[in-house]
Amino acid sequence: MRPRASGGSRDVARLLADFGHDLPRHPAPQARHREPNLHHHAPMRGQLRRGGGWSAASAQVSTWRMTSDQAPVLWPLIATPGLPPTGAQLGIDQLSGGSFYADPLGWVLADEVPVTNPNVFSFGKPGRGKSATTKAFILRMLDFGYRVLILGDPKDEYENLCRALGVEPFAIGHGLPARINPLDFGPLGHGWADLDPAEAQRRSAVVFGRWLTLIRGLVGSQRIGDQRVPFGPTDETVIKTALGHLTGYTTGATRLVEPTIPALWRQLDEPAAELIGECRYRDRRDFYDSTRLLRDALGQLVSGALAGLFDGPTTINVDWHAPIQSLSLSRLEPLGDEAVGIALTCLNSWGRAMREMAELGDVRIVVRDEAWKQLRLGPEAVKSFDADLRLSRRDGDIQWAIAHKPSDLLSVGDQGSQAVSIAKDLLHLADIKVLHGQDPGVAAELETLLGLGPIAQGLITGWAMQGRGRALWCVGEQTYKVQTVLHPLEHHLTYTNTALEKAR
Ligand SMILES: Nc1ncnc2c1ncn2[C@@H]1O[C@H](COP(=O)(O)OP(=O)(O)OP(=O)(O)O)[C@@H](O)[C@H]1O
Ligand SMILES: [Mg+2]
Repeated sequence: MRPRASGGSRDVARLLADFGHDLPRHPAPQARHREPNLHHHAPMRGQLRRGGGWSAASAQVSTWRMTSDQAPVLWPLIATPGLPPTGAQLGIDQLSGGSFYADPLGWVLADEVPVTNPNVFSFGKPGRGKSATTKAFILRMLDFGYRVLILGDPKDEYENLCRALGVEPFAIGHGLPARINPLDFGPLGHGWADLDPAEAQRRSAVVFGRWLTLIRGLVGSQRIGDQRVPFGPTDETVIKTALGHLTGYTTGATRLVEPTIPALWRQLDEPAAELIGECRYRDRRDFYDSTRLLRDALGQLVSGALAGLFDGPTTINVDWHAPIQSLSLSRLEPLGDEAVGIALTCLNSWGRAMREMAELGDVRIVVRDEAWKQLRLGPEAVKSFDADLRLSRRDGDIQWAIAHKPSDLLSVGDQGSQAVSIAKDLLHLADIKVLHGQDPGVAAELETLLGLGPIAQGLITGWAMQGRGRALWCVGEQTYKVQTVLHPLEHHLTYTNTALEKAR
């Protein structure tokens, strides 16, 4: 039955209400309500009404003053201060998301970057991209006028790069014409006859000092059983005096004779009476007895595995104006790591000689790939390496050394020995360290030798192991998480897996 809508009689609703049941009422329709429009079209100069116009006004900048160790508490999510965008654009700084630029000399000159020398040590497990990052760096620095010297390329892996730049690398090995005399005078020997006595004395101090460092490194790399051959002050005097006689410097000759290692050895093997007297030995017998170890160690270099490579006058004519020069050493690989290490020591000394009179503005990146082979030759070899690195502050070269792990430098001696402290000092000589991926077993030494905390260790043993070319760059006290990005052309130039691929 339909309720009656109106009239005097009761409708169904009222009827039911009288019996205690209220029918639900149909809700009254709500008045339609429009949401306020939040977005108004505004003309360029604002609304056309009083107070609605716009004019440019800079935002208020709030100023805060605090120390640098308080600031990270208030702004914890801000990454390390960025480096200036100068030098080689290498890849991505993962913490800021921006580009990462490497400019070691620029960093030394910039007050805000806590770096005092441009030397770089690059560490990483084999195959992590140490050499590729080095190659990308040198390629990109060429545009800024740098030249490159690869002081020993044990795997010939820089050859492609050299050829791409139009330079033929020098190959060193038995049966090849290239010889390097590590006792080269270098440019300091030019025009000796015309030098005034003071300048001659200054130059001779530099040259003799370099030769002595080399002989110390070479003799000290020889072994007697487990021990390295010692090189003490008496040996030093004998070598210095012998070199003085050999070159003619002692007798005041105007034209000096360039020494070689075999000539030096012969000088000691058949000593002149003056040499015996000057070194204060009683007689020839006494000289022979006291210098036996020294003579035999030098003799090893003359007749040992490297005979014929570093024992004659230099035969290569290096064009120092070319963008890159490299000395390929892969032919020495079958002779073992120690022989390659000795070859690197000889090359380092020769390379140092070549840089002793660098022209102003002739800045060079000197790359020592596989430096660990030299650093494992004992404390004297480390000292010789150390001497080369120290020079860089003077002549502005960037020394770039590559090893596997920081403790490579410690294998030169027992824990706590003098050798170990020399090696640690050497680490401090490079203010820039590029730390590629490492196994977790190496994490502890990252802390003890480099002072890296757990976050940095985690990045090196975790994140950096998950991709090639990833590295933690320690620039002074600051660290940057960097992925090196290679250009497709660079992929080809840096590819080092050819041998592995062929073996598969
Ligand atoms: N950033 C990168 N992007 C892509 N590929 C890379 C990168 N870095 C390196 N590679 C590739 O990884 C391979 C190994 O690199 P590289 O030879 O530089 O390693 P390494 O650390 O020098 O090894 P080793 O200690 O054996 O000399 C190369 O074929 C190279 O092309
Ligand atoms: Mg390499």
